[in-house]
Amino acid sequence: MRKKIVAGNWKMNTTLPEAKELAIAVAEKSAQVPASVGLIVAPPFVNLNCVGHKLEGSRVELSAQNCADHTSGAYTGEVSADMIKAVGCKWTILGHSERRQYYGETDEKLVVKTRLALEAGLGVILCVGENLDEREAGKHFDVVTGQTKAVLYNFTAEDMKNIVIAYEPVWAIGTGKTATAEQAEEIHACIRRVIADKFGAAVADDMTILYGGSCKPSNAKELFAQPDIDGGLIGGAALKADDFIQIALSF
Ligand code: 13P
Repeated sequence: MRKKIVAGNWKMNTTLPEAKELAIAVAEKSAQVPASVGLIVAPPFVNLNCVGHKLEGSRVELSAQNCADHTSGAYTGEVSADMIKAVGCKWTILGHSERRQYYGETDEKLVVKTRLALEAGLGVILCVGENLDEREAGKHFDVVTGQTKAVLYNFTAEDMKNIVIAYEPVWAIGTGKTATAEQAEEIHACIRRVIADKFGAAVADDMTILYGGSCKPSNAKELFAQPDIDGGLIGGAALKADDFIQIALSF
């Protein structure tokens, strides 16, 4: 059976003291969440070490929000997959729409980053999602199918065991405007078909597909009740331990 996951993407939020406080609260409250639900937090790079220590003894796993497209060397300002692994991360998010939109992240770069992350022993949370213009033009299925294929069709069925997909419609991120459960479900089902086409039904069935975009305690239950929605990638609501845990209790 595929794993349910609730992951918190803290984005560029939390100074060190704030990150410590949030990590301690999430770790404490995580005991309320059934073991069948995986919990992940992704703080900014600079706070990974400290947050990792605060999570020790809890079942909350640590993730980065990005990784470099090179292994090491003269790449000022970058952080490699090996560094991320060595600081205690099990995961890295890749291809978040904010990185695609503001930092020129392309599908080609994401193939390289995904490969390096997997080689370093990290799990990858790969984000896909259409923007508002694409949705209004009725291109959402094509966009999401294209992004999924462009990255994941370069990998193997074995690799898929260490990959989670997050569907995050750009128009729903940080806007308070959530995709309806039906809108999210039809895209999730489509992504699962794209995975099945290349890797077979069993691999697609095992693939965890998260929804992200204004997911909060008040709408998580309806979203998570959909057959192809296996949890959430949470932005704003992950900055409040109570809300984050409440979302994780929504299955
Ligand atoms: P919000 O939950 O703030 O809309 O952000 C979603 C997101 O981008 C998570 O990666």
